[in-house]
Amino acid sequence: MSKRTLIRGGILVTASDTFEADILIAAGKIAQIGIGLIPDDQTEVLDATGCYIIPGGIDPHTHLDMPFGGTVTADDFATGTTAAAFGGTTTIIDFCLTQKGRRLSESLQEWHRKAQGKAVIDYGFHLMIGEMNEQVLEELPQMIEEEGVSSFKVFMAYKNQFQADDGILFQTLQKAKEYGALVMVHAENGDVIDLLVKQALAEGHTAPIHHALTRPSMLEGEATGRAARLAALADSQLYVVHVTCAEAAEQIARMREMGYRIWGETCPQYLTLDQSIMDQPDFEGAKYVWSPPLREKGHQEALWNALQSGQLQTIGSDHCSFNFKGQKDLGKDDFSKIPNGGPVIEDRLSILYSEGVAKGRISLNQWVDLCSTRASKLFGLFPQKGTLAVGTDADIVIFDPSVTRVISAETHHMNVDYSAFEGMQVQGCPVTVLCRGEYVVRDRQYIGNAGAGKYVKRNKYDAGAPIPPRQPVTAIHGGRN
Ligand code: URP
Ligand code: ZN
Ligand code: ZN
Ligand code: ZN
Repeated sequence: MSKRTLIRGGILVTASDTFEADILIAAGKIAQIGIGLIPDDQTEVLDATGCYIIPGGIDPHTHLDMPFGGTVTADDFATGTTAAAFGGTTTIIDFCLTQKGRRLSESLQEWHRKAQGKAVIDYGFHLMIGEMNEQVLEELPQMIEEEGVSSFKVFMAYKNQFQADDGILFQTLQKAKEYGALVMVHAENGDVIDLLVKQALAEGHTAPIHHALTRPSMLEGEATGRAARLAALADSQLYVVHVTCAEAAEQIARMREMGYRIWGETCPQYLTLDQSIMDQPDFEGAKYVWSPPLREKGHQEALWNALQSGQLQTIGSDHCSFNFKGQKDLGKDDFSKIPNGGPVIEDRLSILYSEGVAKGRISLNQWVDLCSTRASKLFGLFPQKGTLAVGTDADIVIFDPSVTRVISAETHHMNVDYSAFEGMQVQGCPVTVLCRGEYVVRDRQYIGNAGAGKYVKRNKYDAGAPIPPRQPVTAIHGGRN
């Protein structure tokens, strides 16, 4: 008989409900949910009294084993997914980079090789689109239908590296509409940023803070509004990754109010850290170089409000870790050479619970929706993942809200020599984590297996819930505002 586990005494929290119940796992699936379930003698019983039982976190935005900025991220699929599991995440969707002139399928195979035998939790891939030509057009439907890749990422920044032009973005949106995929954008005006960076360097500004000063929030708002309008014109769907500022959140809110299928993600770092931290002496600011950059503190309230009101729908970690020594210091004399990104995969759920739920900014159910269920729905994993229901994958986190701990590089599991949240006290901790019914973390100890994580083929994009009636595109005023 297959392994059975009964989790007893906890409070189940889904995106919609909170209730006391026991939960029986058999053959990697949730077999039963009910009150007073009786175990047979083959069933292991796990006491979860005082804890929340939530669907495993889904992190829709990670960069593992990725070459970037003249180096390769510090976390690969072994260390990155282990840290994710400690943080209560049981599925990640990682970004597969592509190269001009190379088949999409070759890049995808490369990413499969990076993950296979290493991942300890389940994973899927988004595919970057950096060019549009006959070959890409031919491969796109295959990627969705056969490979289970139903989301494409277009960069509007990183000029001369990843940046695509508006035509490529527009055509990707059209194809996504036709075949059933979700287009993701990194929304910043790469051309203007490139100019501002050159001007700052020419004036002798080399310190990390100038990374933020040369990427103003207005340029994120502008690119977000532009991408949203292109999506509207293509009658397609758009997901804006790592929203950092009021200007971008407003653009998303405005287009959603008009009925367009525009979705937005923000990240724990933008909700809790601000730009002033980048101005520290001794190059310390390099630890906090993200693109888009950390903003002035006032933007945090706008982001929390957008999460609360549903105008932003998901939390990604944008995990893209580089060591301070030996990697971030590539930009010691030139801020534009600091590898962009930071370590967040392990802290996503905890920070959102502690800063969000425990501080009364979002509800328990919103927390689950933001960290798991909504990403599952948008990226074609629902209902297999992202909820607690009979027949779904037993991806389950036992979260103890009574534990208080301090985030530190001394105790984290990410393969990186600093924590962006060093010293932050957080309320609540994922104590036990199961992926398809198998323990990955038990009582805060790792008992998973490298290679146990499986690739998940994702379904096509399906908006699911009905959207309000739409205004004709001619009614949208303003272009690049
Ligand atoms: O700074 C960041 N966000 N690094 C990761 C790459 C990206 O733009 O998402
Ligand atoms: Zn990005
Ligand atoms: Zn300066
Ligand atoms: Zn990213």
